[in-house]
Amino acid sequence: MILLDGKHIAATIRQEIREQVEQLRAAGCRVPKLVIVIVGHNPASETYVANKMKACAEVGIEAEKRAFEASVTEAELLAEVARLNSDPSVDGFIVQLPLPEHIAETAILSAIDYRKDVDGLTPANVGRTVQGLPSIVSATPRGIRELLARYHIATEGKHVVVIGRSNIVGKPIAMLLMQRPYLSLPSMSAASLGNATVTVCHSKTQDLASICRTADIIIVAAGSPKLLTADMVREGATVIDVGINRVDDPASPKGYRLVGDVDFEQVAPKTAYITPVPGGVGPMTIVSLLQNTLQAYSND
Ligand code: GUN
Repeated sequence: MILLDGKHIAATIRQEIREQVEQLRAAGCRVPKLVIVIVGHNPASETYVANKMKACAEVGIEAEKRAFEASVTEAELLAEVARLNSDPSVDGFIVQLPLPEHIAETAILSAIDYRKDVDGLTPANVGRTVQGLPSIVSATPRGIRELLARYHIATEGKHVVVIGRSNIVGKPIAMLLMQRPYLSLPSMSAASLGNATVTVCHSKTQDLASICRTADIIIVAAGSPKLLTADMVREGATVIDVGINRVDDPASPKGYRLVGDVDFEQVAPKTAYITPVPGGVGPMTIVSLLQNTLQAYSND
């Protein structure tokens, strides 16, 4: 069993991005710029945004936070999106989710110019991905794909079972792995990714265990601790755990610890490759945002 070390790969990619940004600076070009829009004071969102700002600073990408009170109107936020869409100094921007209830998330996301949508969440980018057009892929699917590529885990002809059908993980990763690989992201070997046979399972799937036992690669993004157990995994499979769940742990200083969707102790010995939680997919997601920002900059 080999651990897919997202922490290490993410550090390698950060170094690559740092070097690319430094080359731009040395050549007298402006550096890429990301703007992060945050509304209200959701503590989790504030932590995510702080981490994203820090990650940008570490690689030399310029980052600006635009904070709005929770009372901001949808019209005011749409005006900000329009301003960012037309600001040539901004390569990419994201609107941190969730938004307050009086603001329609779809209206805001749909208004973002897909070329600046470094979260890859606009209907335009998702549609472009589905049709095999150049697109910006959302952070977690991009991170998973990058992790598979860096460990030379080919997907062609393989049976990939995805558990979870969310817009930000399940649906896009299924789409990416089934498509013809001509749409490979710049850092990937075109031959190795895509062309998989993909089965998407969800909460209403019957006999999940039997389906999983036929998988070469299982990607679990269901938000349910220990959902994937050893009896569901065949010997030599690859398991990618996207779950981040808090479980009570009185022994931990915080009173909780983070676990994935996989019963790691039981499942790991049967696998060829498996991601740990934490330290697997998680660290890849922020690095994907940095890659997407560089991609948006380069596409200008
Ligand atoms: N909230 C939680 N994760 C994300 C993300 O990846 N992007 C945005 N915009 N909001 C989030």
